[in-house]
Amino acid sequence: MPDISNSLALWAEAQRLIPGGCQLLSRRPQLFALGESPIFASRAEGPWFWDVDGNRYLDTTMAVGAVLLGYLDPAVESAVDEQRRAGTIFSVIPPVEVDLARTLTRIIPCADMVRFGKSGGEANAVAVRIARAFTRRDRIAFCGYHGWHDWYMAANLNPDSPLDSHLLPDIGAPGIPQALRGTALPFTYNDIDSLASLLAAHPGEFAAIIMEASRTWLPNEGFLSSVQDLAHRHGALLIFDEVVTGFRLALGGAQQHYGVTPDLATFGKAIANGYPLTAIAGRRDLMEFSSGLFVSSTFWDDAASLAAGAATIARMEETGLAEVIAARGRRYIAEWRRLAQPLGEHARITGHPSCAAASFSSRELATLYIQEMARRGVFTGGGFNISLAHGDPEIAVVLAAAEAALHAVQRAIAQGSTQGLLSAAVQKPLFSRRLA
Ligand SMILES: Cc1ncc(COP(=O)(O)O)c(C=O)c1O
Repeated sequence: MPDISNSLALWAEAQRLIPGGCQLLSRRPQLFALGESPIFASRAEGPWFWDVDGNRYLDTTMAVGAVLLGYLDPAVESAVDEQRRAGTIFSVIPPVEVDLARTLTRIIPCADMVRFGKSGGEANAVAVRIARAFTRRDRIAFCGYHGWHDWYMAANLNPDSPLDSHLLPDIGAPGIPQALRGTALPFTYNDIDSLASLLAAHPGEFAAIIMEASRTWLPNEGFLSSVQDLAHRHGALLIFDEVVTGFRLALGGAQQHYGVTPDLATFGKAIANGYPLTAIAGRRDLMEFSSGLFVSSTFWDDAASLAAGAATIARMEETGLAEVIAARGRRYIAEWRRLAQPLGEHARITGHPSCAAASFSSRELATLYIQEMARRGVFTGGGFNISLAHGDPEIAVVLAAAEAALHAVQRAIAQGSTQGLLSAAVQKPLFSRRLA
């Protein structure tokens, strides 16, 4: 069993110094098997990382999906090194910005032009700003997760807290101005009637429909094109949030994979193999219009991340990455399902093959699975964000650990509890109290 005492000591200090202990909710150790899972990483390479105790883990999370080629991909790192030697930020524009824009407008169906940013939530805030300014309307219909900004969190000013089912339960809307109530309204994935009635209830008032084209659930036949028809019939723009799907489902994103071209789309996470970069892409008239908006930031032209982005996309294109990881993912899902069969309803796996998520009928069982995987040197929260660095041997390591972990879960089901099996703290929901 790995010793994680250095991680635990650092975690105790982090909680005293940093609110929440870190910056991304999905990195908080309460979401894993606290007491058993690694908490701090000191280095990473390919599909592996090493924690501060020197344990090596096969990573299935891959920096929450931000690393699609594997850590320290040689081509990306040498592009960044070269840029670093030349300088990473200037008083004028780095030419690599134009190089990357040229590539993205070639490969992404909706991209006549692109702009750049630093985080996915920020990219969505930019897209929503463009849509509202262009249409001169305020309301946004959404489905899925789109970041932490006010425009999105405003949904929870509604007393039925719609983000419970689109993001996390019990977040509330603390700090969000009441004046935004009714400006962000949810619809249900794969339920076109829920969108139709929302739009019909406020005719001529929606600036945009923003959605993840797929996530844990995949679109029913015709769902995405029906969303597009409805949007345009109501004079609203269609925005795809491709922060997760971008480059993973196809080089041109979910829009290429599903054959539905939105008016605007946002990309993040894997675009620069872990370097901080996002993109907002879209129709020429909208994007040209956006040049007259006050949307601007110092680090958006940072040359190191743009160089990483250019090298990352080139590697994705030359390796046919999306097809490769989808094929590996399909094999992984089929085998995981076979191993989990004896658990029946207690365990399932859903989502696109490149980022399938396993889930369990209780938090105790989920924590037990995560604990058993960690004990066998596999870091997971249940999902598997497959990267190019996860070849057949690495996937075999994950499946061997999953076989043993699923056996432990099966034993817990048979004895009616995790007693004697689980030593980690049971996964805690991050929000358990309404603040507003
Ligand atoms: C679909 C989607 N949109 C937006 C975001 C926010 O991106 P970021 O964390 O880079 O702000 C995420 C983050 O996980 C996401 O999954």
